[in-house]
Amino acid sequence: MNQRSCHCDKMKDERYLELKSYLEALTETDGMAMQILQEAQRIFGYLPLDVHKFIADNTRIPISELFGISTFYSQFSTSPKGKHQISVCLGTACYVKGAQKIVDKVADALDIKVGGTTTDGYFTLDAARCIGCCGLSPVMMIDEDVYANLLNVDAIPEILEKYRA
Ligand code: FES
Repeated sequence: MNQRSCHCDKMKDERYLELKSYLEALTETDGMAMQILQEAQRIFGYLPLDVHKFIADNTRIPISELFGISTFYSQFSTSPKGKHQISVCLGTACYVKGAQKIVDKVADALDIKVGGTTTDGYFTLDAARCIGCCGLSPVMMIDEDVYANLLNVDAIPEILEKYRA
């Protein structure tokens, strides 16, 4: 383990303490970048620049390698996620049935783009690939809730409102 820069302020943050203990418990970090990033995302909810730097400073993994992984794999996010995750399926069956209209309606209702998070932190909007229920297309998921046969996009603002409570 190397220590290239001071993280004194971070050591008052329990999340960094948890990440540091996790890193210290590892006997070897070579080939572990993916697992370390997964653990960091579990702790922080997302992976900001400072977390990449902290991992690089406490392992032998170059920050470029960490960024290469966190920006390549969709399971990682470098920006904060909303309290509720909206996924609109843009797989073929859903797309043919008008899923783009769902994306547009949600984006319009929340004033965000795909990949964006509302300023109140309630929602993040993402596009998904086939989620395995094509017979119910078009499909939108909010967290674990599935909204199937969503042909009436005018119903969307009311659906979203339920999650603000
Ligand atoms: S294409 Fe949307 S669920 Fe399969």
